[in-house]
Amino acid sequence: MARILGIESTCDETAAAVVADGRAVLSNVVASQAHLHAKYRGVVPEIASRAHIENILPVLREALQQANTALEEIDAISVAHRPGLIGSLLIGVTAAKTLAWSMGKPLIGVDHVHAHLYSVMLAENSPSPTFPAVGLVVSGGHTALYEMKSFVDVQLVGSTIDDAVGEAYDKVSAILGLGYPGGPIIDKLAESGDGGAIRFPRTLLGRDSLDFSFSGLKTAVLYHVRGVPGKGQQIKQVQVALGESELANISASFQAACIEVITTKLKRAAKRLGAKSIVIGGGVSANRGLRQALEKFSLPVFFPPLPYCTDNAAMSAALAHLFYERKDFSPLSLDALPQSRFSR
Ligand code: KG4
Ligand code: ZN
Repeated sequence: MARILGIESTCDETAAAVVADGRAVLSNVVASQAHLHAKYRGVVPEIASRAHIENILPVLREALQQANTALEEIDAISVAHRPGLIGSLLIGVTAAKTLAWSMGKPLIGVDHVHAHLYSVMLAENSPSPTFPAVGLVVSGGHTALYEMKSFVDVQLVGSTIDDAVGEAYDKVSAILGLGYPGGPIIDKLAESGDGGAIRFPRTLLGRDSLDFSFSGLKTAVLYHVRGVPGKGQQIKQVQVALGESELANISASFQAACIEVITTKLKRAAKRLGAKSIVIGGGVSANRGLRQALEKFSLPVFFPPLPYCTDNAAMSAALAHLFYERKDFSPLSLDALPQSRFSR
């Protein structure tokens, strides 16, 4: 049984996990920094790097302790070394290299987005997706579609040309005067709202495009709340106080637009790639509305269990097992890189 210690520090979560044989999660520790970034309504890179430095050692210790595993018993160290905020990535990469070098263990650098796709494999007793599959990563930093011939043979086929969908959730939450991260808050409010109350735009970028755009939708919500410039309306510069049902209707209508765009793109990609299943990962894959909407999809849809939707280290330790089996190790010169290996 190979036990891999995973490290994650790509954005604002410091995480470590021990995963056995790529499937059994022995521990999964996540130190969220959300409270540090909440007043800025988004991640402040400098604050994130500093918090990673403070969190990394306690998180690593906790992950080993919860897994009842000594460092000597670990077979390899994995780290998400791309994509992400460079200052944040450097903390995880440095910790992983230090452990690998000092303990004489193999180092395995993985792509964070790739790990989000692989997180569906952490569902207990779930069968593996059938390939070719369409991969979709929907998170705060990424919204992209992939052609997956296997979990290793992955190619980017479409991505956002502006905001990521999770970023749009966070910004809409800020426009509505709600908290950060916005996704879970809007998701909850949407449950009691009417998704047909306001017709927000669905940006599809042409008949054949597999790319996404969410900035127009975000601006439409802003104009709906504060008035449309140039239309003789009074633009409200200050935060607008909205009633409970108005907040619910805006949330549900915004969410309905996001889900319709995502579903349309999934259908397009599935048809074009002759897909047999859909694999979804990333923070927004926790969205209840999206999960519900895709229950009726024409192909089997694989979601990660809820704890593995948002950033975590279990998903990278699990993915690293594929590389471990092939003895595909990284050199100690492994770099932190801002771009995904699947970038255009
Ligand atoms: O995967 P993740 O933790 O980080 C990135 O790799 O970016 O995703 C975080 C994003 C945030 O934008 C957050 O608002 C969104 O995922 N999110 C959700 C939900 N839970 C988290 N968005 C919609 N519905 C949710 N339930
Ligand atoms: Zn992520």
